[in-house]
Order: sequence, then structure tokens, then C-alpha cells
Amino acid sequence: MTQPLILAIESSCDETAAAVVRGGTDVLSNVVSSQIESHKRFGGVVPEVASRHHVERITYVIDDALTEAGVRIDEIDAIAVTEGPGLVGALLVGVSAAKALAFAHGKPLLGVHHIAGHIYANRLEQELRFPLVCLIASGGHTELIYMPEDGVYEVIGETRDDAAGEAYDKVARTLKLPYPGGPRIDQLAQTGQDTFHFPRIWLEKESYDFSFSGLKSSVINAVHNAEQRGEVIIPEDLAASFQASVVEVLVTKAIRAVKEKGGKQLLIAGGVAANRGLRAGLTEACSREGIELVIPPMHLCGDNAAMIGAAAIHPYRAGRQSTLAMNAEPGLDL
Ligand code: KG4
Ligand code: ZN
Repeated sequence: MTQPLILAIESSCDETAAAVVRGGTDVLSNVVSSQIESHKRFGGVVPEVASRHHVERITYVIDDALTEAGVRIDEIDAIAVTEGPGLVGALLVGVSAAKALAFAHGKPLLGVHHIAGHIYANRLEQELRFPLVCLIASGGHTELIYMPEDGVYEVIGETRDDAAGEAYDKVARTLKLPYPGGPRIDQLAQTGQDTFHFPRIWLEKESYDFSFSGLKSSVINAVHNAEQRGEVIIPEDLAASFQASVVEVLVTKAIRAVKEKGGKQLLIAGGVAANRGLRAGLTEACSREGIELVIPPMHLCGDNAAMIGAAAIHPYRAGRQSTLAMNAEPGLDL
């Protein structure tokens, strides 16, 4: 089977990214232009600012991806793009660029779900064995997904309120740490102790769903109460206590899902997959339970376009082309 060359584009949030991927597994280039510095002073991603940055950078990022791969646009077999979910104005920039290229060069256009991209980032490093369970934890999503076979997704659990990354970012803001807060809390937690014993929110016994807003409120209340009493909080201990609660719930539910579903592997994906506490907790639990754990390398945890090129192999092989009527879908279902 010939291995198609796919030019992939991702612009769903605050990274403008393009990549060239051969056959869904071989990354020839992976260019990511981050906007984090521009959003820092607002304490979070400002959608309008994100869209403007994408518009300014998208053509350069695509050119760089082709140049680094040593590939001309006419050698590309298809153009893939994140269709959703994400910020509508941000998504539109990538979708418009992909449609323009597909139309101008007569190439097939492939719409890809952002979360499918995060999942298939794992296949850039390791072979996947089905059925499997994937724990998605990012700024916008916290989900447990059962995949009976390649390209088939069944959402078996999801957050009922905040996503894990969102809780990290809000707790970081309470500690007056700059955006994005996840990596900073992770850093502080390395030298702290779980002294606060925050609640673990399990929900119903059989549920695979998550809830992080109660935990977030407990952390914020602890900080405010200490301020009122004039007490000093040790940020390292607060971070370690918050992280211990998040990690225990994520790990316990993920392991239970793999065992109950008979999964051959447990995958993790999304920005929070970079968290050292989560990686360590899952590694320990999986080795204890005899479960094969697949963890993406750090540079593939955050948003990038190589993962979109990896996931695009399914619509490509199935001949599921999008038309030029494709639109950005901020609430797209997996
Ligand atoms: O997947 P991603 O790059 O963008 C979305 O699709 O949301 O995830 C970004 C999220 C942010 O909330 C960020 O704070 C969090 O991932 N994050 C982390 C870590 N690195 C990034 N959270 C905890 N620990 C980390 N090391
Ligand atoms: Zn993402």
C-alpha cells in the first residue's frame, strides 16, 4: 500500500500548527507557533487575540512545514485540518487555509476531530492494540473513551463541569501564577506534600464521569480562609494536595475502565498528559495491574498538527473526503 503524504493544519486554540505526515505514522515535519506569551497578560486565552495571531502566522507555518519536510505542495496527497471542537474564530483560520489549498491545488480535504488527533498522537510513537481505553485530559476535555477498533470511539465517561486542565489553570490563577497554570502547579507539586487532604469526587459507584469544580472550590476556599486568618499557605503543599486529588481520581477511574472493558492498552492524551504526577501515578498503577500503558512523548501532549496528520489516515483510507462546504464546528462530537 502506498503511504499518502498528508499536510495537516491545527488552529483550534492558541497554537498555530502545520505538519507533514507520511502514512499516518511518519512525521516529516511538525511546526508549532505558540501564542502563550500574548495571552499571558490576560490570564487565559482571549479568543479574538487567538484568531488574529492565527491569521498572521498560518501561511508561514504551513510554508515552514513543507520546507522542513522537503516536500512541494503538488507532492501532497491530501490536506487535513482540525474541524472542531475549539474556538470558532480560531478553527475558522485553519479550515479556511485548508480549503483554499485544497481548492487551489485540487487536493482532497479531510476534516479531523481535535480529540481524535490527541488520541492518535500515541500512534506516532507506538503501535496501538485494540480494544483499548484512552484517558483524555486537556484544557477543554476530560473523557474516558473506549475504542473497540481502529477509528471507532465510544465516550464512556466525561467531566460534568470543569475539564482537568481548566481546574489546573483556575487553581494556578488563585495562587497568582501565570497562564498556563498546569505546568506551574505540576512544578510546585514536585516538592510539596499532600497536607490539605482535599476531597476526591467519585460520583456514582459505577460512573466513569468526572467532576472537578468542587475540588477547585475547596482549593480556592482554603486560600481565601488562610488569607482572612492571616495564615501563610505553602504553595508547594497546596499544589501537591490538589494534584494528588486529581491524579487519584483520574488514575482510579482509568484503571477500572480498562479492566471492566477488557482493554489491551491504556492510552493518555491531551495537555494534562504532560503532568508528571499523572504519568507517575499511571505508570505505577499499570505496572501493578499488568496493564500496558501508552504515554505520548512530552512534545506531542500539547496541541500540534502531527497528531491531526496521524488521525487523518482514517478518513483518507475510508475515502471520507470533506467538501469545500466544510465549516468550523466548535461543538463537534467525536
Ligand atoms: O491539549 P491542550 O494543549 O489544549 C487543549 O486542547 O485544551 O491542553 C492544555 C491544558 C491547559 O489547561 C494546561 O494548563 C494543561 O493542559 N497542562 C498541564 C500540564 N501541561 C499542560 N496540566 C497539568 N500539568 C502539566 N504538566
Ligand atoms: Zn488539545
